Amino acid sequence: MKRRIFDSIYYVGACDKSKTLFENLFPIPSGMRYNSYLIDDEKTALLDTADEAVRDEFLQNIKDTLKGKPLDYLIVHHAEPDHSALISSVLDIYKTATLVTSPTALKFINQFSGKDFTDRTKTVKEGDTLSLGKHSLSFIAAPMVHWPEVIVSYESATHSLFSADAFGSFGSEQGSLLFSSSKNRDSWTDEARRYYSNIVGRFGNNVTALLNKAAKLKIEKILPLHGIIFDKDCDFAISKYSKWSSYTPENNGVLIVYATMYKNTKYAADLLSALLCEKNIPNKTVDVSYTDISYIISDCFEYKNIVIASPTYYGNMFPKIEQFLSHLKKSAVIGRRIGFIENGTWAPTAAKNMKDFLADMKADFSLPTVTVKSSCDENCIKQIENLAAAIASDFS
Ligand code: FEO
Repeated sequence: MKRRIFDSIYYVGACDKSKTLFENLFPIPSGMRYNSYLIDDEKTALLDTADEAVRDEFLQNIKDTLKGKPLDYLIVHHAEPDHSALISSVLDIYKTATLVTSPTALKFINQFSGKDFTDRTKTVKEGDTLSLGKHSLSFIAAPMVHWPEVIVSYESATHSLFSADAFGSFGSEQGSLLFSSSKNRDSWTDEARRYYSNIVGRFGNNVTALLNKAAKLKIEKILPLHGIIFDKDCDFAISKYSKWSSYTPENNGVLIVYATMYKNTKYAADLLSALLCEKNIPNKTVDVSYTDISYIISDCFEYKNIVIASPTYYGNMFPKIEQFLSHLKKSAVIGRRIGFIENGTWAPTAAKNMKDFLADMKADFSLPTVTVKSSCDENCIKQIENLAAAIASDFS
């Protein structure tokens, strides 16, 4: 299908609605969109390819858009296979096209494909430009957003940033590709934060470096490799990225992550939630056994306070809590206030183990620990009241 986005920039990407796990790891209940763009100018340029899963639709879209014109350039911003899997196919079909990419990306493309595209490649670095006619692209290095080879490009005629994985999101909107037509900002924010925090989250400094470069440009459109295209309100997306990359919470409330075996630890988590509600402190409870960790990591980027409640299990924490904490550490989120609730019938040790596990995180661990002995008795209720009061002291 030929699908114009604006000016002479066309959409040739596609979505995969049958895949349930992105990278075989992250749930994508509404599928995943692999964006690719084609600029039709004096010279034609395809900006990135797509995932193997959407091969037929993607190649047909290019054909429908070019309508017999030759393809002059294939520009590759990011060599991860969800965007580079179809490079060989494109270069096979469009035999005179030149591959334009960073030197490191070329190395990765050759490694993945088992071929050597060096003779067909023009390598570019930060500051290099490529004129297509009316449109001109300038390249900006964006290492570790999300791999080391990544470049983004700025198109000066339309003030468009082709941002690679940055500003991408999970899911595939029905119908419109454009932010101006999407149903609401919250749906973009939730899935973009989940994508960001789980995939790029630990590279906050690199994202900040890219944002600093972008701040010198007049950006009116952002075209990422996944999800919605920002045809307006780019400042909204940039302000969210600014918060996430600096690990600034969007919500001063409390995320309560709990595991429970016989509902007693859940009772403690629910009691804390109820007490916080009485104090008008926003909070959210999440059962780690029934919530994919990617959603909880996203919540950890959103909330300022995190309380983790775990039964003691083999003298340690509950296994699913350990799995969550392992991801939390890898996300590299900093500046959170973290508290603990432990439960144990004869030797409660979950809190000490959780604290030790997280000890090298840059976080505030000063909240009082709650110890539940099997079930919540009066002493336990008092401890949870104290914990709620300690959290509330920040709100007064
Ligand atoms: Fe969408 Fe890092 O690939």
